Amino acid sequence: MATPTGWRREGNLPAELTSFIGRTRLLANLKRHLNESRLVTVTGIGGVGKSRTVLRLAHQVRTHYPDGVWFADLARLQDAGMVKHTIASALGIADQSSRAESESLSEWVGERDMLLIIDTCEHLVQGCAELVHELLEAAPNLKVLATSRQSLHLPYEHVVPVPPLQVPGDDPAESLFTNESVQLFAARAGASVPDFVLDEESIAPVAELCRRLDGIPLAIELAAVRLRALSVEQILGLLADRFSLLAGASRTALPRHQTLRAAIGWSHELCEPAERLLWARLSVFAGDFELDAARFVCSDGRLPSEEITDLVTGLVEKSILLIRSNHAGVRYKLIDTLAEYGEEWLDKLGQSEQMRQRHLEYYLSLAQRSEDAWSGPRQIYWFVRMRQEHDNVRVALEHSLKAPGKSAPALTLLSSLWFMWVCCGFAREGRLYLERALEANPTVSKERCKALWVLSYVKSAQGDSAGALQAAEKCSTEAVRVGDSRAVILASKMQGTAALLQGDLQKASALLGVAIEFNTDNKELNPGLLPAIVELSIVLTTQGELYEAESLLQDCLQVCRERGELWLSSHAQWALAGTRLASGRADEALQNTREALRIKRHFHDTLGMLMALETAARIFAMSDQIELASQLLGALHQNWRTAGLPQLGAPWMTDVHDQCVRECKRGLGELAFKDAFEEGARLDLDEASALALEDPDAPDES
Ligand SMILES: Nc1ncnc2c1ncn2[C@@H]1O[C@H](COP(=O)(O)OP(=O)(O)OP(=O)(O)O)[C@@H](O)[C@H]1O
Ligand SMILES: [Mg+2]
Repeated sequence: MATPTGWRREGNLPAELTSFIGRTRLLANLKRHLNESRLVTVTGIGGVGKSRTVLRLAHQVRTHYPDGVWFADLARLQDAGMVKHTIASALGIADQSSRAESESLSEWVGERDMLLIIDTCEHLVQGCAELVHELLEAAPNLKVLATSRQSLHLPYEHVVPVPPLQVPGDDPAESLFTNESVQLFAARAGASVPDFVLDEESIAPVAELCRRLDGIPLAIELAAVRLRALSVEQILGLLADRFSLLAGASRTALPRHQTLRAAIGWSHELCEPAERLLWARLSVFAGDFELDAARFVCSDGRLPSEEITDLVTGLVEKSILLIRSNHAGVRYKLIDTLAEYGEEWLDKLGQSEQMRQRHLEYYLSLAQRSEDAWSGPRQIYWFVRMRQEHDNVRVALEHSLKAPGKSAPALTLLSSLWFMWVCCGFAREGRLYLERALEANPTVSKERCKALWVLSYVKSAQGDSAGALQAAEKCSTEAVRVGDSRAVILASKMQGTAALLQGDLQKASALLGVAIEFNTDNKELNPGLLPAIVELSIVLTTQGELYEAESLLQDCLQVCRERGELWLSSHAQWALAGTRLASGRADEALQNTREALRIKRHFHDTLGMLMALETAARIFAMSDQIELASQLLGALHQNWRTAGLPQLGAPWMTDVHDQCVRECKRGLGELAFKDAFEEGARLDLDEASALALEDPDAPDES
């Protein structure tokens, strides 16, 4: 089963996939700068090792930051408007609220003692500088470490250039064997040709090669993999020819960035034509991708799909592609500088548009598959999968939204992913894109109707009941015009949800009832039926119709069990806790709440966890565990602030919450309440739910 995503305290540092060589002085220097300054920017040419050095440093200093070291990679991000969002998403920030993004990002960072790494800022320098400035002002204990080919131009920024690795001869006292460039070459050579040894015979040409490559790590890595087919002397000879060609008569006059380009160009030439074409085509992916995706997007008459696997293997062997495997499978990634090169090549071939279109088609169909499968037994798989594809989905959306007159697929892609926006904590992103897509597609259509009810659902998840109502009403009107009866019913469901949030129980009951009746006949499960049943049960509980509410929920849980639908079952468990609590069955209610929490932790369901914690606090307050309840109230206060409108602004939840606060204050006394509350306010969502899940009466295992 997948691990919970987001809100981990320790951070999200990626693992280091290959050995790290040298750089002792640079690392020490960087640590010193990081002690003295709140913003350090690591600069240098492409492929020189900025990202890698920063990652090494991050692993070394991670224990110095109680609230973790966090890594946000902007390499493939094109839209400056998405910088904040990408960083918030890397931090796993509960992302429900409809407030300005930077406001809740700053609030989330708040007092946290943490290091934020923003990798690859050069193409978005302005946006990064503004955001970093805002964050540093708002969060006194935050430090930022950025990598960029150019500085962020902030007055208090410490810029630390990353030079190439030392090459043989830089330090005449040093042995050739211990030189960093030579060591990097030897490490990579040893990995690609196991019998490679660095000895008295090979050291001279290797040293010369490293000098020729100017100590640029990426260039050294690309050359080392060539040992499979060529000797060091041959590589040296071929490269020397190429460099002198580029530099005219002079053999040494190549500027360093040209050395790298030449090394990449040389690597490129040594690839088979089909590998070269694939390299170019793979540049349309953002971040990493699966083999299936590469097969679909990059194949055509010239690159048959069945050849893609071998070609990908070839590119991995040549160090063009990185391979990453984890419990979810194997994924590939083009090294940044090489992706840029591929992109230029693709442009020259005139295939960019065609590949982006294929990329969009692939993610569109994946999103539709995920929607179809969402209510079934592989729900966690689909959540994890779509979370992994998040960067690619964003790129596909951007592509579609930018193409004039061709943005309709964006509507479909976004609407299919309604569960990501509503159930998995990405409401703000969903709203942002849905509003853009709707604006770009003003003509009434079925696709628009679906996007409108999804938007309404998203707005409800943000506690924006007025906005939700408006979108649902619009959906209703347009759905009637296009004769889309399914959308009419879903609009009714969403209007019901908004009415519930506003505390208009009668209206909620009537509208949800319509959706349930229609969808029961049609056996339509999600999101029109089961969520409507859960919401109707809340109405019934609030009206004191506890027996009816419970029997609705039991039926709903039964359907969930039959279908393997987990997320909704956690929602129903939470609602059932409320019903049982209302009939004084606190023990059972606690079990339901805990079950809800246990499931929700597998999704990024911020909202659901907060609501379950509200119920847990109430139960503990009623069962004389007032200190625990007060701690949870503190945690709720803190976490609602970054997640959205407290208690979603729903009167039936706020009333109960306020009453719980009063009871705890009365039970503990103001001072003790304040202490417990403040203790709880330091907990993140995961810690708070661990607290609620702990069973003090359980037998000790030791
Ligand atoms: N000190 C090192 N030890 C081992 N490998 C290194 C070292 N420095 C860099 N590399 C490797 O060299 C390659 C290029 O490094 P990296 O991606 O960090 O460059 P970069 O400066 O961030 O480039 P870009 O500007 O394209 O982002 C990577 O494969 C990286 O793992
Ligand atoms: Mg980099």
